[in-house]
Formats: sequence, C-alpha cells, structure tokens
Amino acid sequence: MTQPHDWWRQAVVYQVYPRSFADSGGDGIGDLPGITSRVPHLAALGVDAVWLSPFYPSALADGGYDVDDHRDVDPKIGTLEQFDEMVAALHAAGIKLVVDIVPNHSSNRHVWFQEALAAGPGSPERERYVFRHGRGADGELPPSDWTAMFGGSVWEPVGDGEWYLHLFAPEQPDWNWNHPDVREDHLRTLRFWADRGVDGFRIDVANSLAKDLSEPLPTQAELADLVDGAHRFFDRDEVHDVYVEWRKLFDEYDPPRTAVAEAWVPAHRRARYASPEGLGQAFNFDLLQSDFDATAFRTIVTENLAFAREAGSSSTWVLSNHDVVRHASRYALPAGADQNAWLLSAGKDPEPDTPGGLRRARAATTFILALPGSTYLYQGEELGLAEVADIPAADLQDPTWVRSGGEQKGRDGCRVPLPWTAAGPSYGFGPGGSHLPQPSWFADVAVDQQDGVEGSTLELYRQALAARRRLQGAEELEWLETPADVVAFTRPGGWTCLTNFGDEPVDVPAGRVVLASGELVDGRVPADTTVWVETRV
Ligand code: GLC
Repeated sequence: MTQPHDWWRQAVVYQVYPRSFADSGGDGIGDLPGITSRVPHLAALGVDAVWLSPFYPSALADGGYDVDDHRDVDPKIGTLEQFDEMVAALHAAGIKLVVDIVPNHSSNRHVWFQEALAAGPGSPERERYVFRHGRGADGELPPSDWTAMFGGSVWEPVGDGEWYLHLFAPEQPDWNWNHPDVREDHLRTLRFWADRGVDGFRIDVANSLAKDLSEPLPTQAELADLVDGAHRFFDRDEVHDVYVEWRKLFDEYDPPRTAVAEAWVPAHRRARYASPEGLGQAFNFDLLQSDFDATAFRTIVTENLAFAREAGSSSTWVLSNHDVVRHASRYALPAGADQNAWLLSAGKDPEPDTPGGLRRARAATTFILALPGSTYLYQGEELGLAEVADIPAADLQDPTWVRSGGEQKGRDGCRVPLPWTAAGPSYGFGPGGSHLPQPSWFADVAVDQQDGVEGSTLELYRQALAARRRLQGAEELEWLETPADVVAFTRPGGWTCLTNFGDEPVDVPAGRVVLASGELVDGRVPADTTVWVETRV
C-alpha cells in the first residue's frame, strides 16, 4: 500500500531509549521484546512514530552511541529476528519506526578500528579514522589542545607516536569522511535498515562529519572564533555533500525514507540540514534551552517557523530527550538555574518546586503539541517524570561524569528505567532489577497509577494526541493579541491555543474547551496552564 510521502511533517515521534524502556529478560537492561510488549502503550498514547536510540552491539561506553557494528542488534537486548518482530508489531499498530544512525564515530571495538590499531602508522587501515602524529620529539604530545565533548583531550595516544581523534569518549574514534570506504559503508547501513522496513533515521551529531585537519591546527581558544562554516569540525559546508548522497538513497524507497538531523547549530544555520535535497528535517533545541517564558516561547516559535519555511521543511519541537534534564525538573528550578550544580547537589540545591515544575511542563507540552510541525516526545514524559537527580556516584554510567573528573554529573538522571507498575521488582520495568537505580517515588507515577485516572499526566497526553490528530491542519498559525505574559494563537480550522505564563488567571478564548493542561479556576485559565479551544461550529 502506498503511504503518504509527507507523514513526517506533523508527526508526533516518541523517543525510546531501548535499554531503559522495558525489560523482558529480567537482566535489568531493556530489550527489543520489551518494546514489542509495550506497543499497546504507544498505540493508546497515539504516537505516529517511534525513534529508537541505538540498539546496536556496544560496550556502552556512551549508552550505545559507541557502535561496534551498525548492522546488527546487541545480543544483550535482542536479535535481528526480534527487531523484525518489533517492526511488524509497530507497523501493525500504525506506528512508524525511526532508528538512530551514528555516523561521526564508531566504537573502539569496531572491526575496522581494531584493524587500524593492528596495521600501524601509515597503513591504509588507519586512513579510515583520523590518526595524526603527536607533537614533541617522539610524538608524546597530542596534535592539538582541543577538548572533547565529555572532557579531556580529543586525542588518544596508541603507543606508536600516533594519536586518534575522538570528539566524544576515547571509546568513540571519529571516522574519516573523506575516505570512500566510510561513505560506502554508511550507505550500506542505511540500505540495510531501510530494507528491513525502517521508515526513517535520526542522524546523530549530523553537523560534525566533515573535518578540516590541515596544518597548522588552531588552538582550542581559536576554534571558538571559527563560525558559520569555518570551524574545523563542526557545521562545515561540505557535510551537506554526504546528505545529498543519502537523500538519493532515501528517495529510492516508497515512501521515501525520512531523516532528522541532530545538529546543535545556530538557528540561522539549521535550514541546510532540513533541506529537501538533504536530510529533510532538523531538530530545533531552542525551546529545550529556554526558560518557561512567554516572550522567549513566542520568539522561538516565530523564528523557527520562518526557518522551516525557508528550508522547505516543517518545524520540530522538543522539550526533553536522553541528553538533557527532564523538562518537569528544569521548570521546577528558578529561571536560569545551573542545572549541573543542581544535579551535583543531588537535586537539593536549589530546592525544586516539583508541583510547579510539573504544572509548567504540562502547559509547555500542551503548547508545543498545538504548533504546526512535528513534536518529539521522550519516554516517560507522558508520566510527568522528573529527573532522578540523586543517583549515587558509584551507579553513574555517563562517561561525562568520569571524564570531567566529577565536575559534570551527566545524563543518567533522565535515563532511569521507566515505572510501569507501582508494585513489583523495578516497578514493572521487568521481572528483575534495573540497570540504574529507581527512586521510591516512581511507585506513585507508574503507568498503572495514571491509566484511566482523570487529570493524570498520562491521560492528558492521550487526550492531547487524540485531539491534535483530529484538529491538525495546514502548517500555519496566527498570533492573537494578548497581555505580555500570555501567548495565544489560532490554527486553521478554528483551533485556538492559549498559555498563561503569568500569575493572574486570564479568560478562556471564546469557543468550546477541548483540552486544558490543568484545572480551570472559576472558568478562567490560571497560571502555568494551557487550553485548547475549538471555535468552529
Ligand atoms: C549525540 C547523542 C548523545 C551522544 C553523542 C555522541 O549528541 O544524542 O547521547 O552521547 O551524540 O554520540
């Protein structure tokens, strides 16, 4: 059956972090049969697609973003056959599947990296990665002073005078994208999954593949001044040549396979990644980085709708993912608070306003779900989950923690396995334990505690997704005149969304209320609340 080509433009995509979603085996690590068993949850939620974070063989030096083999399933979490069963179950429920592609680096256990180490300096095997001679008489100093994303140097010595580049952890050696083998191998990977029925791809650090390592290398301080395509390894213009090639491959399929770029680039550089001749869509992390503030939200939406139009794409909206503090917790902290310092204080300093954070999170989610474009949800946010901020140091897994010498707590707090039931080992995550410790408050927010409960966050998400499916129309909005701390807009077909960011209640716009992120007070919209109103008769 032919599927519409543009299903992705206004899709609601739910991110599954596979090792923390559902565990069928009881080893404390989520797995593919676990995901298959929870397809009814995803169907009842009403999502259009699932984005699956890496499930490939990995030593988990970076939560699976260190890939040993891009065309296989990690035996700890399943088999290719179980992958096919999962795809079939999702498709049977009308849910598409987007998988994560990690093209900047492999893991240090990848067969080509092992061959490169064995083959030695000057070998063709080393050319697939980025090896350089060290500075100093015997190459004992790194080629440059650049620092890696997780702390420490980007260069790792291999003991023969050469060093290899890793923008992330040392277990993640960067590919050399000037090498035809690397390009070919990625095309093979994309085809492998597209042929298996995968509908789209999320491209990890899509802005970092192209690199200019010609000598002399600038210093770390000098790198900061190299913007708008001039940086040595971020957001170089040549990166788009790769995606033009990928797009040709995507378009061989019916419907064409989709792609969304994870590219932490300034908004004015985003259009290139989202172009129809390239990946087609790009994440916009502006709201995720913003305080809960009327002016900021309105400005970000206006700008991003314009950028998406310019790119010929649709906008993307994201409030949480596996790399950031969950939005229910971000909004529980004072505006501008240092989130890492808060995590390092085990979530105590400053004291979070937990109910307020949840109220604002519900309002913000309801706001983004009314916007034109597609929305990416992160597993557990439909339960209103807060960050688990008090994971003991000994249990932390994120390489950031160790690589920063304990200065950055890292991202484990949003990756704690989900609570499905109030009772049972690991709160229904599986028949055994949980690879990250779950807090006791998970019992109160488990799926079975919210299912069918009027006003619960789970029911709010379900209602919002159902109403959105019914109301969503052309990718347009019109702002309404409002007081400064209120944001309201109408969508084609008589759908109005209003969010009250201020302290005082405001009037509900004329029409029939179809959804409210919190209870109305005396028929008015209280602080930190969003309403949807239908105005058509
Ligand atoms: C992306 C992923 C993140 C990972 C990094 C390196 O930013 O979202 O989780 O650590 O890339 O692959």
